[in-house]
Amino acid sequence: MTKIQDLLSSRRKENVSAQPQSVASEQSRPPIRHIAIIMDGNGRWATSRHLPRVAGHKAGVSALRRVVECATDENIEMLSVYAFSTENWNRPRIEVDGLMRLFWETIRSDLEKLHRDGVRLRHLGRLHDLSPDIQQAVRDSVELTKNNTRIGLNVCFNYGGRAEVVDAVRQIIADGLQPEAISEELIASYLYTRDLPDPDMVIRTAGEMRVSNFLLWQSAYSEYYATPTLWPDFGREDLLEALQSFAQRQRKFGGITPKNG
Ligand code: FPP
Repeated sequence: MTKIQDLLSSRRKENVSAQPQSVASEQSRPPIRHIAIIMDGNGRWATSRHLPRVAGHKAGVSALRRVVECATDENIEMLSVYAFSTENWNRPRIEVDGLMRLFWETIRSDLEKLHRDGVRLRHLGRLHDLSPDIQQAVRDSVELTKNNTRIGLNVCFNYGGRAEVVDAVRQIIADGLQPEAISEELIASYLYTRDLPDPDMVIRTAGEMRVSNFLLWQSAYSEYYATPTLWPDFGREDLLEALQSFAQRQRKFGGITPKNG
């Protein structure tokens, strides 16, 4: 049996006890349940050190570990991270292969700790285009961690916001739904994120100001936060800064602020 299967079967036997429900927010800031992150700048980080780009992605995994720990400490309910887009297939073969290997290796190396720490893993994206080994590792890790409640970690891998809408529309048609049945709620229920809250904040590193096909439907009212910090350098302080920025925002969702009413 593989390590992942060992973990799965021992979890079934133990019927692991429920972990404490996380608190959605501190009292001092507007409620923040879900943070989505565009982890940009790995390539620049590596190139500036005369390293191959994949070394930047490896350093990016270390940054992700730090951020998951910090977000857990801050009682954030959920993180969604953009690890591989449907457009990233257009990168050089060596980089695509490196990212695939890194994803697979990270699942194998980190799953046990993530599970112990109460992380509930979920995959967002087109799983069927990935290698059978990766598909199986993803399914096993989602199954293993599905009852964890400390924090949700949604890994967007082979994810594209437009592809997500295409997949939803195809399924809606396949299910024979009539035009009158279509509503925003119905469409949301066909997205990969079906039962997840929309992101309250989208963080993008490395100074870029683009949406890059990330959670297009779900981020309609997300607060954006851009930082020049390259993703591999991003850590606890940077996340706390983003949370502080979020605390200053007045969310209106298309309405008006109470003091102007
Ligand atoms: C964008 O930086 C980053 C990516 C395309 C990959 C992000 C992947 C990771 C952080 C690690 C993999 C994650 C998991 C879950 C194993 P870029 O390469 O476009 O940087 P650049 O703009 O500086 O070239």
